[in-house]
Amino acid sequence: MDVSRRPSVEAGFAAAIRDYGPLDILIANAGVSSMNRAVDLSDDEWDTNFDVNARGVFLTNQAAARHFLGAGRKGVIVNTASLAAKVGAPLLAHYSASKFAVLGWTQALARELAPDGIRVNAVCPGFVRTEMQRREVEWEANLRGMREDEVLQDYISQTPLGRLENPEDIAGLVTFLCSDAARFMTGQGINVTGGVYMG
Ligand SMILES: NC(=O)c1ccc[n+]([C@@H]2O[C@H](COP(=O)([O-])OP(=O)(O)OC[C@H]3O[C@@H](n4cnc5c(N)ncnc54)[C@H](O)[C@@H]3O)[C@@H](O)[C@H]2O)c1
Repeated sequence: MDVSRRPSVEAGFAAAIRDYGPLDILIANAGVSSMNRAVDLSDDEWDTNFDVNARGVFLTNQAAARHFLGAGRKGVIVNTASLAAKVGAPLLAHYSASKFAVLGWTQALARELAPDGIRVNAVCPGFVRTEMQRREVEWEANLRGMREDEVLQDYISQTPLGRLENPEDIAGLVTFLCSDAARFMTGQGINVTGGVYMG
């Protein structure tokens, strides 16, 4: 589905429920980024980041919440926010703003759904080795007049645990949040950054 479009999200949820039965877990992980100085940002860059990162979380979370409530299920939602949802990230002002929105939404939804036993949390990864990072390193190298290996070294030097993050470093936390071991946790935005951000 295209998470930024309501008809696509509604059709996607209907197809998933038809094919697999009632849902128990939503992981809202889709996201986009671009890099630019705040003074040079275009409306299109702003809108694209908010359409996927913020509206995508709104639409998918709402579809899941309606399903959980309608089916009387104590579902779990995990949203992917970011380190950039905790501290404003240079060259990513629009992305940061869209990810701060994810945390605000997560907290409010968690409060609304808690009486029905539905938990809503977020994870905040740091510098993760994915296609998104590959694109960002190229953009950042151009914008900061650095080599790509220098940008990567800069990420590592900001990381107390001393390496780039792997997707697997986040998967365990997501699994935990979906499990009964996290039954008394809701409305959290949990950092998994190798210590880049502590707080
Ligand atoms: N890579 C990082 O350093 C990093 C750090 C913090 C947070 N994040 C977040 O982690 C999540 C995953 O990012 P990633 O690094 O794997 O990026 P990625 O670009 O490698 O993967 C993003 C995925 O989102 C999908 N997607 C994009 N727009 C979509 C849309 N409109 N509808 C449905 N799917 C769509 C893409 O097809 C792709 O599969 C994102 O929310 C991202 O913001 C990434």
